[in-house]
Amino acid sequence: MELLVEGKATLRGEVEISTSKNAILPILIAALLSEDQVYINGVPQINDVEIVKKLLINLGATLSQQEGQLSIKSFISNIYPDYELVRQIRASLLLMGPILATRKTVKISLPGGCAIGTRPIDLHLKGFEALGARITLSGGNVIAQAKELKGSHIYLDFPSVGATENLMMAAALAHGTTYIENAALEPEVVDLANFINRMGGSVHAAGSNVIKIEGRKRLYGCTYTPIPDRIEAGTYMVAAAATGGNLLIKNVIPEHVKATTAKLLESGAQVEERDKSIRVERSGPIKPIYIKTLPYPGFPTDMQAQFMAYLSHCSGSSVITESVFENRFMHAQELARMGANIKIEGRTAIVKGVEGLGGAHVKASDLRAGAALLIAGLMAEGTTCIANSHYIDRGYERIVEKLNAVGAKICRG
Ligand code: EPZ
Repeated sequence: MELLVEGKATLRGEVEISTSKNAILPILIAALLSEDQVYINGVPQINDVEIVKKLLINLGATLSQQEGQLSIKSFISNIYPDYELVRQIRASLLLMGPILATRKTVKISLPGGCAIGTRPIDLHLKGFEALGARITLSGGNVIAQAKELKGSHIYLDFPSVGATENLMMAAALAHGTTYIENAALEPEVVDLANFINRMGGSVHAAGSNVIKIEGRKRLYGCTYTPIPDRIEAGTYMVAAAATGGNLLIKNVIPEHVKATTAKLLESGAQVEERDKSIRVERSGPIKPIYIKTLPYPGFPTDMQAQFMAYLSHCSGSSVITESVFENRFMHAQELARMGANIKIEGRTAIVKGVEGLGGAHVKASDLRAGAALLIAGLMAEGTTCIANSHYIDRGYERIVEKLNAVGAKICRG
């Protein structure tokens, strides 16, 4: 699947942000913690959600959807999620928490590596052991078994989003109280905690470094609407600035995109925050800036590729340091095919601004790299053809329609 992007676009108008991919994936999985009916509103039509829905059905859940509302009635009759589905998405690792919590045993294929690094799961497994599980690895699978899960003090060597979420779900049904220390602070972690509490759970201080979870005997059905997607919002904010346009981004929580706003302002764009929307425009030159990706509330690694595309056409040299993943510069070589001047030294990229980019045949290596190439294509002279565009559809709902509605000319090849 390819995308053909006409260059020299100027984005003007309004765009509506969808529900957060990285909030809804753990929330759909956390629905497994109760056998009552759970209703989730605002479910976006993105490929990653489709895969998780198939995984839930594979485990024994019954799903039905009316418009954007998905209803889930869980009954876990299978403790070994289907390998063909698991291997397609890293978030399948989050199935361990609920299956272990409800069935006391789970067997799942170790996640394959992906374009942005090896992405180990040691912090997840260390936490499960702290809760009383025995971990064994065999034949490319990890098996976790426990007579019962008991509350514990868990220290995360790194504030891993997935490990915090996995362990929060397991602890929600454990006996006693669990503390997750050096927990991830991301808004998606807070949203998961709010969802578990809506189900009758007891999760306290999510969004701080130490999350306290008091285990419950059972959880109940509920209705929930996850937060909007702060990375989708950030991507459109950068696209507006990159094309010298003027976009009103609606259904966004300004607090969640503070780092993106700060860096856009530093680069010379204008950003106006309102209650649930943000206007971004740029008329002057793009100024060079320094970016270092960090866990939330630091600059998000999921916005790094988009900013690299934006800064490749600026008056001077920018420096981007990727401190979260060890190999997340795959988009640099593709941007170079469009004329960008980027020098990679370990985890640092020096982006020397060029007069302009030229359309070319490029290849997306992952979701955010694909978004970066889309932004570069909108800026470039001529047409850009993006191969592997299915990566983009994993996390951006109707992105071609949304961009074409504000002045882009993109079609699917
Ligand atoms: C989540 O991935 C997001 N995915 C990622 O978004 C995001 O980039 C990442 O958090 C960081 O913010 C979802 O929420 C579905 P981590 P996750 O565990 O949970 C290391 C996107 O584009 N680590 O916080 O996998 C790991 O190798 C995706 O939407 C361990 O060493 O991220 C990495 O270097 C991409 N051991 C760092 O921590 C572990 O056990 C951050 O990983 C776990 C992680």
